[in-house]
Amino acid sequence: MLSWDEFDKEDGEVVAKGANAGHAAEATMDRLDSAGGAAALQARAVTANDSAAIIRAKTALDNLDIAEGLAELEGASARVAVDEKRMINCRADLNQLVPFKYDWAWQKYLDGCANHWMPQEVNMTADIALWKDPEGLTDDERRIVMRNLGFFSTADSLVANNLVLAVYRLITNPECRQYILRQAFEEAIHTHAYQYCIESLAMDEGEIFNMYHEIPSVAKKAAWGLKYTRSISDPKFETGTVDTDKELLRNLVAYYCVLEGIFFYCGFTQILSMGRRNKMTGVAEQFQYILRDESMHLNFGIDVINQIKLENPQLWDAEMKEEATQMILQGTQLEIEYARDTMPRGVLGMNAAMMEDYLKFIANRRLSQIGLKEEYPNTTNPFPWMSEIMDLKKEKNFFETRVTEYQTGGALSWD
Ligand SMILES: [Fe+2]
Ligand SMILES: [Fe+2]
Repeated sequence: MLSWDEFDKEDGEVVAKGANAGHAAEATMDRLDSAGGAAALQARAVTANDSAAIIRAKTALDNLDIAEGLAELEGASARVAVDEKRMINCRADLNQLVPFKYDWAWQKYLDGCANHWMPQEVNMTADIALWKDPEGLTDDERRIVMRNLGFFSTADSLVANNLVLAVYRLITNPECRQYILRQAFEEAIHTHAYQYCIESLAMDEGEIFNMYHEIPSVAKKAAWGLKYTRSISDPKFETGTVDTDKELLRNLVAYYCVLEGIFFYCGFTQILSMGRRNKMTGVAEQFQYILRDESMHLNFGIDVINQIKLENPQLWDAEMKEEATQMILQGTQLEIEYARDTMPRGVLGMNAAMMEDYLKFIANRRLSQIGLKEEYPNTTNPFPWMSEIMDLKKEKNFFETRVTEYQTGGALSWD
């Protein structure tokens, strides 16, 4: 066990010395030198028992330039003041999590962790029996299950790749990065959940996972999203000019507002409607856990976009507003096409026309959430039972009212 008395005795002098030093880099060096200099030399001394490999390792450390290593770290080497922190193009040290500037990002990280779940915790027995029974589901219901597993099984990988390979590097705030890491893991869990459904139902894996190449209504949504990843996932891409900052903003609108904010909604509604009718309850339960995570991803993305706008008002000009509006309208149109393809006839108490109304209602929400004018007048929500789950502004209410019994494991109850 650690003893704080010993820890303080050893480091007290060093910390005081560091805090008074004029230059932060020098202070860092002082701390490192006096704390461990003699001890390190002693530990590194070559002994008679050392093999040639160990001697090489010790010698290599003799030549290690600590100053050079620290200089390569992102941002300045000084202690961080909260008003230096910025969403993009920040100069403060990104490896120092605190002091927090964006408490909402940290809170979302904590909420995400508190609601951890795994796909294997969901009982799929009833789904397997229903899926195998030739009379269990209609052809239209089967089409909905297949198409949605087809779309989602790769869509969450697109989102995860965009986060890890593009967005993470460009968002220069450690508490937001902490949430992005949590989100990235949740996307891995979602892909796992779809794989688990596909495996449980003994579906043709190749057919489902390759649907985003083979089925036009699925392929178009994937291709639309990928277009916005291309430039910013180039390792040479840097923000810092109006054009490149706008390119990042475009990506955030595409992924958070459209992919996670519109493209998921037809499928979620269809599968949750199935669960409410006591069909494919395991798949529906997986989707409900995923939806809870996705609501938070969406809210996080909207907070990030609005914070970037606030800190960089020059980016949110008439041209950018028009572009963001167009992106949301295009996304809505693609999702309406997807609704028609997945529901050629009325099924599960809904049809493509009702879904179109619902998607326009959702699109208005996305537009207003990032400060844009609503484009679909007089829309109403034809699925009020969905708004109970999805449209709550505070995700906390959603957890409290719907899934209070769940923390790490356990089942959701359908009401
Ligand atoms: Fe996801
Ligand atoms: Fe997500």
